[in-house]
Amino acid sequence: MKIIGTGSALPKKIITNEMLAGFLDTSDEWITTRTGIKSRHIITDEKLEDLGAEAVNKALEMSGLGVSDIDLFIVSNVLNGYDTPSLSCIVAAKTGLKCPMFDINCACPGFIYALDMAESYYKAGKVKNVVIACIEEPSRMASWDDRATCILFGDGAGAVVLTEGDNIKGIKLNAEPDVDKIWMTRPLIDNPYAIWKEGLVPMQMKGREVFRFAVNACTKGVKNLLDESGIDKDDISWFMVHQANKRIIDSIIDFMKVPSSRFPVNIHDHGNSSSASCPILLDECNRKGMFKEGDLIVFSAFGAGLLSGAAILEW
Ligand code: UT7
Repeated sequence: MKIIGTGSALPKKIITNEMLAGFLDTSDEWITTRTGIKSRHIITDEKLEDLGAEAVNKALEMSGLGVSDIDLFIVSNVLNGYDTPSLSCIVAAKTGLKCPMFDINCACPGFIYALDMAESYYKAGKVKNVVIACIEEPSRMASWDDRATCILFGDGAGAVVLTEGDNIKGIKLNAEPDVDKIWMTRPLIDNPYAIWKEGLVPMQMKGREVFRFAVNACTKGVKNLLDESGIDKDDISWFMVHQANKRIIDSIIDFMKVPSSRFPVNIHDHGNSSSASCPILLDECNRKGMFKEGDLIVFSAFGAGLLSGAAILEW
């Protein structure tokens, strides 16, 4: 497939590190040096589905396609207020999309998992035009008393429109299932035969172990994909890496030995927006006119699961 439209939407409210230091035992200095984050957008009076619809509408507008042209709508999302219907149905009710649709929960690499699904449907001859939207509100997952997690995240939505083409040069997905590294639970309704004992447990994360997984998954995943695709790293114009921690990105730059100017970064004013991170970055770079036809772009993302994935796309 080929990307012909991108869009993104961010909440209005911006929370700076200094604002967090007002109620948490933390500092701008700690957050900046350990993560590269200076501020993040947090949903307050907006609705997550409205951000999703805005991102989809912008991507559709850029693509020149209308909702009736779309054959499949895939939404990547970890958490939203509804357990049913799916967030894809909620966003479709706002945008007018009426094609088959579903949600996936692959955490931060959700955009790459969704790209793989879109490409597979396309190669099976079932679809011509696909919309992917990654719509995330991780600010409602971490406890705001937990300085080790809540400082990391920002909310937002990113979307792409894909059509027929042979621009996806390779995708590689990876899983190292391990519930213990990043998890969160919410209560289920009790019934007469089963009582839910755990209650709500906000996001728990073993930060250092996830850090190691992230660097390893990203460097190996990208190297393996480049080797398998017969593409040299020096031919890659842009590396779009999941914006989880600037130190993770710097470790990948060191390992790959490519100029840091080829790694666009927006973590300083977005934080980690889970699967929305890659498509938001893509849209921002696209709207700045950074890409030219023929540019090779690598995507790489990692997160809860533990899942990771990498993709190479020709612009
Ligand atoms: O997209 C999902 C995937 N998630 C990630 O990619 C996250 C990966 N992990 C990380 O980015 C880093 O591990 C963190 C940013 C989460 C933590 O950085 P770290 O350098 O690994 O710090 P640490 O967890 O080893 O903690 C070092 C110290 C601890 O204090 P002690 O035990 O040494 O006294 C923490 O309690 O820093 C403390 N600390 C903080 N101090 C000030 C933890 N959070 C904070 C904070 N402000 N916000």
